Amino acid sequence: MSESFSTITLEIDDSGIAIVTINRPKKLNALNDEVLNELADVFKDIQIDEEINAVIVKGAGDKAFVAGADIKELRELDNRSGRMASQKGQQIFQLIEDTRKPVIAAVNGYALGGGAELAMACHLRIAGENAVFGLPEVGLGLIPGYGGTQRLPALIGKARALEMILTGKQVKAEEAQRLGLVNKVSADPVEASKELLNDILKNGPIAVRDAIKAVYHSDNRSGYQVEADLFGELCETEDCMEGTSAFLEKRKPEFKGK
Ligand code: CAA
Repeated sequence: MSESFSTITLEIDDSGIAIVTINRPKKLNALNDEVLNELADVFKDIQIDEEINAVIVKGAGDKAFVAGADIKELRELDNRSGRMASQKGQQIFQLIEDTRKPVIAAVNGYALGGGAELAMACHLRIAGENAVFGLPEVGLGLIPGYGGTQRLPALIGKARALEMILTGKQVKAEEAQRLGLVNKVSADPVEASKELLNDILKNGPIAVRDAIKAVYHSDNRSGYQVEADLFGELCETEDCMEGTSAFLEKRKPEFKGK
């Protein structure tokens, strides 16, 4: 079975594994508002569809999983709309994390900014050999706004997360595995994800559901509000206008700290 939205494809195989493909390859699958809305719709369907036992999230094409939130849209945001955009992304990624069926990100190519945040909202991550992770938002005069300031430290520890967030540096697949950001590196991350899910699905489905629930139960959620507030404030700075304009004009930004 397969179902099509404009920017997302949903296919379901015989074992009940749904493959969600983010399909905007010309913009490296960047998350514009339409993609985010469709991602929310698809995950609401997945929660209630009894034919679906597990989920793989991937990006269309080999070059990118997702290259982040859409910078063209970010450039238009002010304090209020920026905070709301951050909260919207956070809520959709929370919906993904709250799925009580195992969700794996199969990451080929770039997983940057909102793309890395999407991968981190999935329960497990399998990277292709060409995968590249990073939170480059500070280079745009911003901070990660879709939960990255909360999930990255939870996955790899505060010191290593801060180094990645403050430098914006990119981390290749092998290093991402060493850091604990990905579970495994594979030449074929979708196939490897299917194998892992088929192993998981041999176990008691209620136990699998409850294990996911228990693991996430202890998470402290108040940091997300701080992230959204700061993201909104940053949207109104000259530095953010400069950083996002520089990306779109394909030049280096000149920040003034204003
Ligand atoms: N938003 C909008 N458009 C994007 C995009 C993004 N995040 N990433 C790539 N694109 C577009 C480019 O503008 C380009 O479009 P045109 O062909 O119309 O010019 C197209 O996708 C191909 O990209 P490049 O030409 O840049 O490809 P490249 O191979 O030279 O570079 C890359 C690849 C290193 C991933 C580079 O595209 C890049 O740095 N992208 C932005 C990464 C980024 O900063 N992500 C964070 C976004 S902010 C965020 O996510 C905030 C948050 O937490 C909510």
